[in-house]
Amino acid sequence: VAAGILSGTRVVLTAGPTREYIDPVRFVSNESSGRMGYALAAAAISAGAEVTLISGPVGIPAPDGVQLASVTSAEQMLQAALAATAEGCDIFIAAAAVADYRPASPAGQKLKKQAAAAQLSQLQLVENPDVLKSVADSHKVTYLVGFAAETEQLAEHARSKLTRKGIDLIVANDVSRTDIGFNSDFNEVLLIDHEQTQRLERQSKTQLGQYLLAEIVTRWQHKQAN
Ligand code: PMT
Repeated sequence: VAAGILSGTRVVLTAGPTREYIDPVRFVSNESSGRMGYALAAAAISAGAEVTLISGPVGIPAPDGVQLASVTSAEQMLQAALAATAEGCDIFIAAAAVADYRPASPAGQKLKKQAAAAQLSQLQLVENPDVLKSVADSHKVTYLVGFAAETEQLAEHARSKLTRKGIDLIVANDVSRTDIGFNSDFNEVLLIDHEQTQRLERQSKTQLGQYLLAEIVTRWQHKQAN
């Protein structure tokens, strides 16, 4: 990405997993390491943007220069995303693996294995807010990018998310593969927008972050000009 091409612009990203607590020591989550979102945040910094990175719990350091908003749950990620975009935002990229459901009534104390058999064997779940869709519905962002984590019918399922969430571009990855996707240093993606589908071959997430951001910037510029 050309240095300085995003100077004066505001980029907000989500990355990593969310954790939805069952009790103070148990939670529902997923394998996201944050690497894909962090690589994009680093690329946006190199391009000169003002970057807010809203991150679930991960084990990697935030790129120098980002404003890091650390969150745990989907509800916290939603509040942080709405706050970070409230004053307007040029590009929003949702790379986080947000838990779709959370325990309906998290316990305030650690559940005892025997006494809590009912709660732990039949966990009641309620749906979490959709962070990306809520940000899209707030109409504060010029260009909205989502990811789609799929295990089958990659392009079809991703395309339906593009329309359902009201966004400009979806980056689809096949998370049934272990050599890319969740918790890998590599990824391979399909970029699907309202005009075309394009493949970016398997490469390190660091490098892919640069290429992906360049593709996003081109599309954002095109949307602004029209
Ligand atoms: O973190 P890594 O280990 O580097 O792995 C990267 C990744 C596989 C997590 C990443 O590339 C990826 O695919 N992220 C999206 C994972 C996901 O939750 O996809 P989804 O198809 O369930 O969601 C579609 C989109 O809606 C995503 O942009 C997601 O951030 C967003 N979403 C989903 C649910 C929800 N409640 N709120 C959301 O904002």
